[in-house]
Amino acid sequence: MAAGRALAALLAALLAASAQLVPREASFTISLHKVDNTTVTIKLRPGVSPSCRIRIKNVIRSDLKIKSGENVTFTFTCSTPEKYFIMEIQKNIDCVSGPCPFGDVHLYPLGLPRLNRTYIWDVKASTKAGLELKFSTPWLRQIEPGETCPDSISYNINSCIDKATVNIGTFCRNGSVSRVKLLGGVVMSLHLPWHSLLTTSGFNIANRASIKRLCIIESTLKGESSITLMSPNYPLGFPEDELMTWQFVIPSNMRASVFFHNYSLSNCERKEERVEYYIPGSPSNPEVFKLSDSQPANIAGSFNMSLQGCDQDAQNPGILRLLFQVVVQLPQVDENVTHLVDLSKEKNMTVTIHLEGWPSQIPLVSEPVCLICKDPRTCDRVLTLVSGAVYRISFLCKDLSRLRITAEKGIGCMDIRWCQRKVYSLSVPKAITRLPIQLHKFIWKLLATDLINVEITSPTLKLRQHVPEQKCNTSYSYSIVSATPETELNVGVFCPGGSIEKIQMRNNITISLKTFGKGFINESIPQDLKMSFVPHIKDECTFTVSPNPKAKVYLQTPNWHYGLPPYISISWFIIVPSKQTARLGFSKDRMGIACETGRAYINIKEETPGAEETVRREDELLPQPRNMHHNFWVNISNCKPVDKTQLTLQFWVTFADKQIDLGIILAVVAGAGVLTAIGLTVCCVRKKKKKTQNPMVGVYNANVNTQMPGKKGLFGKGRQNNESHVYAVIDDAVVYGHLLKESNGSVAPEVDVYRPFDGPIGSLPPSPPPFSFRKDIKRSSNTEEEPPPLTDTDQDTYTFAHQKSGQSKDSGDANEKDKGDTNVPLLENKEQDGLVE
Ligand SMILES: *[C@@H]1O[C@H](CO)[C@@H](O)[C@H](O)[C@H]1NC(C)=O
Ligand SMILES: *[C@@H]1O[C@H](CO)[C@@H](O)[C@H](O)[C@H]1NC(C)=O
Ligand SMILES: *[C@@H]1O[C@H](CO)[C@@H](O)[C@H](O)[C@H]1NC(C)=O
Ligand SMILES: *[C@@H]1O[C@H](CO)[C@@H](O)[C@H](O)[C@H]1NC(C)=O
Ligand SMILES: *[C@@H]1O[C@H](CO)[C@@H](O)[C@H](O)[C@H]1NC(C)=O
Ligand SMILES: *[C@@H]1O[C@H](CO)[C@@H](O)[C@H](O)[C@H]1NC(C)=O
Ligand SMILES: *[C@@H]1O[C@H](CO)[C@@H](O)[C@H](O)[C@H]1NC(C)=O
Ligand SMILES: *[C@@H]1O[C@H](CO)[C@@H](O)[C@H](O)[C@H]1NC(C)=O
Ligand SMILES: *[C@@H]1O[C@H](CO)[C@@H](O)[C@H](O)[C@H]1NC(C)=O
Ligand SMILES: *[C@@H]1O[C@H](CO)[C@@H](O)[C@H](O)[C@H]1NC(C)=O
Ligand SMILES: *[C@@H]1O[C@H](CO)[C@@H](O)[C@H](O)[C@H]1NC(C)=O
Ligand SMILES: *[C@@H]1O[C@H](CO)[C@@H](O)[C@H](O)[C@H]1NC(C)=O
Repeated sequence: MAAGRALAALLAALLAASAQLVPREASFTISLHKVDNTTVTIKLRPGVSPSCRIRIKNVIRSDLKIKSGENVTFTFTCSTPEKYFIMEIQKNIDCVSGPCPFGDVHLYPLGLPRLNRTYIWDVKASTKAGLELKFSTPWLRQIEPGETCPDSISYNINSCIDKATVNIGTFCRNGSVSRVKLLGGVVMSLHLPWHSLLTTSGFNIANRASIKRLCIIESTLKGESSITLMSPNYPLGFPEDELMTWQFVIPSNMRASVFFHNYSLSNCERKEERVEYYIPGSPSNPEVFKLSDSQPANIAGSFNMSLQGCDQDAQNPGILRLLFQVVVQLPQVDENVTHLVDLSKEKNMTVTIHLEGWPSQIPLVSEPVCLICKDPRTCDRVLTLVSGAVYRISFLCKDLSRLRITAEKGIGCMDIRWCQRKVYSLSVPKAITRLPIQLHKFIWKLLATDLINVEITSPTLKLRQHVPEQKCNTSYSYSIVSATPETELNVGVFCPGGSIEKIQMRNNITISLKTFGKGFINESIPQDLKMSFVPHIKDECTFTVSPNPKAKVYLQTPNWHYGLPPYISISWFIIVPSKQTARLGFSKDRMGIACETGRAYINIKEETPGAEETVRREDELLPQPRNMHHNFWVNISNCKPVDKTQLTLQFWVTFADKQIDLGIILAVVAGAGVLTAIGLTVCCVRKKKKKTQNPMVGVYNANVNTQMPGKKGLFGKGRQNNESHVYAVIDDAVVYGHLLKESNGSVAPEVDVYRPFDGPIGSLPPSPPPFSFRKDIKRSSNTEEEPPPLTDTDQDTYTFAHQKSGQSKDSGDANEKDKGDTNVPLLENKEQDGLVE
């Protein structure tokens, strides 16, 4: 007996195996009962090569339609028909003329080949009756058009009103849509992939009383979760003048919030498009909202929401559509704790409370949300508060540490007379620091016209520049950007506790205080940044640095990552305590650029009468570390570098107590005598010449000349941009004069001409005309400079020739430039000039 059974089993197994081994031979018999009213269609998938066919007896064909009452046996000519064929199983259910076969809907017939298939149930029903599609768990989840389901199983529900079809939606399995009620007929389809093992349709049909609207979609949300739903036909229009309802079944101890993510309105001729809520316990049911309103939040338990269309303008109907989300959460412990945010005394400020990562990172729909509420039922993921008002806010959020504050304050000055003497404190208001939310950024936007510049100071804390050698490690830092409508200059990142006392900058300035870690929540963290508007400054930025004698200070050029933009100049004024000597060094030997147009320079000069200036051009070695006994300037001006080279310079300053090294001084005095004499001569000639020249032309405005034709407006200002009193070269006096006229009309040249002598820092002696610069002179006056490197001889020669040409440090005497006679010795050249004048 047992052996017989075993044998039978073995045989069966062998048969099954052989069937699999020769799948070609697999034949299918589909027999449809007349009463089933079902049609099975097998056809090639459009666009696929017809290399597989259907064989019925000995007839080969590429499609097959089996109607109810038929019985067909067929095979495929290939072993993988699922790659070529698709199948449609349509069942018509007529509830108008006959009895309506309600109940569970089966996947009939059985024994179908394994192909991608679509079951379609086409239910005809009277528009007076309601039909209910009830889904078995795990219910359904609506998807947006174009989205696919993870298991490739999807449902599509279409409602047929009269002759029109409305797409109620496309759904995947596993969601919270538990029932859909419709009016009139419905075409329900279920798509299954060939490998699906699904054996039940997952829904039943029941008949209901009329629902008096297009449809009702019921969602049952059990725990903390969220659901996204769309209006029928989304993203196309909701049918005109229709009404539909979404019912949400939610445990009474849970809280629901509604968010409209995407909607558009049609052009209504009569009535208004709106949503109405029935919220249990609400004194004002239904609560009517516009689609543009902030939708209710924090609803306790079940509710329903209806969408009402309108009579549309026939000419231009527009589209009513809505995509929204309902989020269900447990009540939050702190939901009733309100925080007072008093912005009534603030001006021009917005405060936005949002989730970490916003707005670039939109939280996953499935994530629990953090809501910020203006009142118990007006909550949103992002809340913006504006100055001039008092708010009482609360949070519906498990983890407040995920929230952040971003605030922005605008300070403008369009007329210096109104703001020159004002000192604005750039500190984060207490109303913000008091909230239990981490400040992410506080942004000050300082807006001014071209001729008004910005000065920031940090009198007590002083600022430290964030450089690779000395990274900021404080709980907050300031990032400073200066911008015109066309360009941006990243001035740098600064943090408290350094040596920068003051920064003057041009253009519109954005200062962003950014916090790191939780430290800043604490009100006790001192802030000390003051700002004022100042009249026009010469350089793009000027830093005043007053280092702590014990510190080693690193400073670097703005726009570190992209290099200093062309034609701009930056200056640093370093304050050296009287009993100390500063040592200044550069972090590399060369500027590392080649100029395409203009020249780049570094000028270093002590602020003491008679101090000589050290000048280096981009093709020269940068100065060796040197000692400075007085306050000094480090000025850098850029040319237009050739492609792919960028000017980035870093230097450092350290201090030591002053020591007098007589040996060096004596040596230098001895060696320098003759040269100094020559230097003075040159200097005098030069000065005389300058005096007699027409200052209106702007001899010193040489800076303009760094601006080559076509480069104007690089910083978008069309003004003396470049007045950076840059020691630059004029290659073409004609161009120069033309630019002068064009770029700044009548006012600016004067400003620029005189500023180097009697500008705001008028106590400084005028820089000797760059003309007078000679390497040897410099060496003589700079008592502590290291012995010249071997290359120095070369450089001297070079410098000399260079000066002869009248081009090097000559700030642009047009006449002289014009001559451009490189062969005329220096002094002769001067005399010639003198004669001309
Ligand atoms: C269909 O036809 C096959 C033979 O062609 C037969 O064996 C089978 O019983 C038929 N089925 C029905 C339901 O008629
Ligand atoms: C069958 O469905 C799967 C997944 O839905 C798809 O990748 C495949 O191309 C379909 N095959 C045919 C023949 O349509
Ligand atoms: C089968 O479908 C046809 C066409 O829709 C319809 O006329 C007929 O009444 C249906 N029969 C049943 C039993 O539903
Ligand atoms: C159903 O969805 C939930 C959350 O969306 C997921 O955790 C779960 O794995 C899904 N179940 C199935 C069977 O896909
Ligand atoms: C909102 O609608 C617009 C226009 O149809 C579409 O581009 C956008 O992706 C939609 N957003 C969402 C979240 O669906
Ligand atoms: C909406 O909810 C209210 C109150 O719970 C109920 O009276 C009404 O019938 C509901 N409407 C729909 C369409 O579900
Ligand atoms: C918040 O206040 C409401 C109304 O006063 C109350 O029903 C609810 O229980 C309170 N929630 C908490 C967490 O205390
Ligand atoms: C407010 O900010 C705007 C720009 O954000 C600025 O134009 C305006 O001048 C500012 N007002 C005051 C009083 O600072
Ligand atoms: C921050 O850096 C400075 C200098 O680099 C150092 O003196 C200070 O101890 C650091 N502070 C912290 C909190 O690391
Ligand atoms: C600063 O911004 C204001 C307003 O956007 C603009 O009018 C002004 O020209 C800007 N200033 C500069 C220097 O770009
Ligand atoms: C701020 O920090 C100080 C000292 O670190 C501490 O005593 C105080 O409680 C903190 N305040 C807040 C609001 O966290
Ligand atoms: C550096 O720039 C400042 C400010 O523009 C200027 O006053 C000073 O004379 C310049 N110094 C040198 C050495 O160029």
